[in-house]
Amino acid sequence: MENNRSSWGSNLGFLLAAIGSAVGLGNIWGFPYKMGKCGGFVFLIVYLLLAIFVGMIIMVSELAVGRKTKLSPIDAYQKVSKKFSWIGWLATIAPYLIMTFYTVLGGYCLQYIALNMTKLSFGNEAVNMTGGDIFGAMLTTPLGCVVFTILFIIICMVIVQGGVSGGIEKFNKVGMPALFVMLLIIIVRSLTLPHAAEGLKFMFVPGYAVKAGFIEAQPNLVSVLGTAGGQMFFSLSLAMGAILTYGSYLSKEENLVKNSVIIVFSDTLIALMAGIAVIPAAVANGIAQGTPVGQIKLGGPNLLFVTLQDVFTNMGKLGPLFGVIFYVLVLIAAISSAISLMETIAAHWIDKDLAKGENDTRKSRVFTVSLLILIGAVLVAADGLGSNFSPASLLGISTVPTFLDCFLDFFDCWSEGIAMPLGAMLMALMIGWEVGPDLVLDEVAHGDPSEGFKKFFRFCVKFVVPIVMAFVLAGQMIDFFGGNQMIWYAVSVIALVVFWIIAGTGKKAE
Ligand code: PFF
Repeated sequence: MENNRSSWGSNLGFLLAAIGSAVGLGNIWGFPYKMGKCGGFVFLIVYLLLAIFVGMIIMVSELAVGRKTKLSPIDAYQKVSKKFSWIGWLATIAPYLIMTFYTVLGGYCLQYIALNMTKLSFGNEAVNMTGGDIFGAMLTTPLGCVVFTILFIIICMVIVQGGVSGGIEKFNKVGMPALFVMLLIIIVRSLTLPHAAEGLKFMFVPGYAVKAGFIEAQPNLVSVLGTAGGQMFFSLSLAMGAILTYGSYLSKEENLVKNSVIIVFSDTLIALMAGIAVIPAAVANGIAQGTPVGQIKLGGPNLLFVTLQDVFTNMGKLGPLFGVIFYVLVLIAAISSAISLMETIAAHWIDKDLAKGENDTRKSRVFTVSLLILIGAVLVAADGLGSNFSPASLLGISTVPTFLDCFLDFFDCWSEGIAMPLGAMLMALMIGWEVGPDLVLDEVAHGDPSEGFKKFFRFCVKFVVPIVMAFVLAGQMIDFFGGNQMIWYAVSVIALVVFWIIAGTGKKAE
């Protein structure tokens, strides 16, 4: 079976694909405003510490488990663990749930490219509406959203059908450098707008977001930890099977630690660059339009699809051109991430077929997975982020917790909110206490890790990651379900203790 299994054409190809998976809407959209909301610099420091002590550890572990087993998540976890073999299911269902809304957001990008192209061709007045009106009109036109979601799914499907090196690697080899150049263009334009410095202050000056009125009060450290942890995992594509799957196509010669450092560094760099491209432009435009600084919308879907569209509209003749460049950039980022999720789901069946000696099933398997994704995505596209209907309205519930306010939040809650932190916690406990860190370190040894790294890895995987993940899990549940915070902390700590006991006691896996 291994002989016919896909593999990367080169380590650079793998790196660009993994960076492509990591760099996505999370970087361009989530990172900048979460950084501002959590006090700028404080968030950045917490984020970097988490990336080094937690993200790196899970990244190396996923790559090692993938490469060692040469299997997709469900079979890979079944092979290495007796007690936690079901983590593989979390790491396959979560990518499916993410895809149900990621593809819709990809469809929005396509619509915004079309919009800016129209303005470029026929003049800004061709669509003489504010960003808010445009976004509202788009959300309440379900047919358009569904059609563009389908288009986005087809693009991803064709790339993934092309194969690991023939499709995914090829796309990223062109897409990632192109994205980088476009990002630089937008940064230069953004920073040369009057008042752009205010936006930089929002991101980098501690306490400025509160002082300028963007947020009421500085969030406490635990909530910063929860937000930064959730963001870091999502942004690095961790605990969703994607990195494990990509690692399973990697050759034994490659150095997993070095590769992990490069992926984490690049993803963080692009997130910061995206922040510098997006936030100063949004703040500068708001000030120029006379909006009080604190009222400029920097959070949620508004940032990307309302505030920034206004920025491009108000830039004059060349605005739509920058609009096209920007939304193409976001589209590339969305595609490069979505194809990693699609591959993770499809790889399960492709591996099963290979085991039965059927070599040629990629195209049909990827097609079926695309159809399955479409079923969930239609709900997300049609509900218009809750403008048209929502899980709550269908259930007839009037006081709405976040996770029921639209299908996007509903699917996000179970994937990013629960499966991801729980999966990461369980993976660390499995490696740290059930199978032992040497499972990973022996695999990494092909790149010969130093004694220092081995000590660092053992300590982090056994203690730091599980404990941090309990906080991240609690933070996510507070965000999605609301209610008494102490209850969610208690639930997370109980889960941690129970799984820790299960991992550390009884028969060890061979
Ligand atoms: N890392 C992507 C982003 O920042 O948007 C999202 C993502 C891709 C999450 C792949 C998880 C994953 F497996």
